[in-house]
Amino acid sequence: MIDKKYLLDSKQVASFVARGFLRFDELVPHEINEAVMAEIDAGTIKSQPAGTPLSQCYPEPSAIGHMLRMPEVQGIIHSLVGPDPLFDHHAIHVRQPNEGKAQGMHGDSIIDTRMHFDIQLMYFPHDVPLEMGGTLIVPGSQYRRINEMDIARYQNFIGQIPMVCKAGSLLALHHGIWHCGRQNQTDRQRYMYKIRLNPQVRQLNLWNTDDLTEEVKSNRTIFGGSNYLPDDVQTILGKLEPWFENADGRLEIVNRIKMWRFLTGDDKFDVHYWLTRLENMPENRLEETA
Ligand SMILES: [Fe+2]
Repeated sequence: MIDKKYLLDSKQVASFVARGFLRFDELVPHEINEAVMAEIDAGTIKSQPAGTPLSQCYPEPSAIGHMLRMPEVQGIIHSLVGPDPLFDHHAIHVRQPNEGKAQGMHGDSIIDTRMHFDIQLMYFPHDVPLEMGGTLIVPGSQYRRINEMDIARYQNFIGQIPMVCKAGSLLALHHGIWHCGRQNQTDRQRYMYKIRLNPQVRQLNLWNTDDLTEEVKSNRTIFGGSNYLPDDVQTILGKLEPWFENADGRLEIVNRIKMWRFLTGDDKFDVHYWLTRLENMPENRLEETA
């Protein structure tokens, strides 16, 4: 059982629901980063059959196994996809120096409209300055389900985030988020390790929900938001991304509300009144209510 102190809190999970990613800078220690790069160079990181429980992957000795078994990393994984998720696939991306092209913007795999979601962990074992490219993500795009490279003709999006980071940083991504690998314009190789994980359990209150108090929940029906705290769940789920439509991103906020209800089992949760309004379909006839 994972110590609760390593699990994510509700605000972190709300941010994941809103933006489709969480970022953990310099989480992995230097020794593991160095050992992983040596493993990549040696070609000794072995894949597993899809569907293998993660606990059975990367047996000792394995630097990647050390990284994945860190309690902090286990806590992130457990909070999003539960205990011992299944290995889907991994990829060891090595971008060559001064390569002349970038990867097209895409979503991994085909259109996948489940509420249940996989995560992809991206691990950056060395410093990634902007000129080295790094992974580019479009925050909040995970509910705009796309088919692989169908959007690759688009090069840049307002609000996009290039993963410029220090060694040992991790990204946890919702499977639907739009992303790509950027061009490496340095004279050094760039490494990135990615693993996709499938949940084995219903994704319901898997994180540390101690901060999900009745007070937080009770704010859900207040229209207008004036009673929302600066960083409470409702506020986090209502934050806009720069690419949202002029109509203030209502469609995406509704998508987030649906995901939050799915993850908490709280079918009455709302942000302002956006989803409750859509659900109002009275069955009472006038003569019955008179
Ligand atoms: Fe990808």
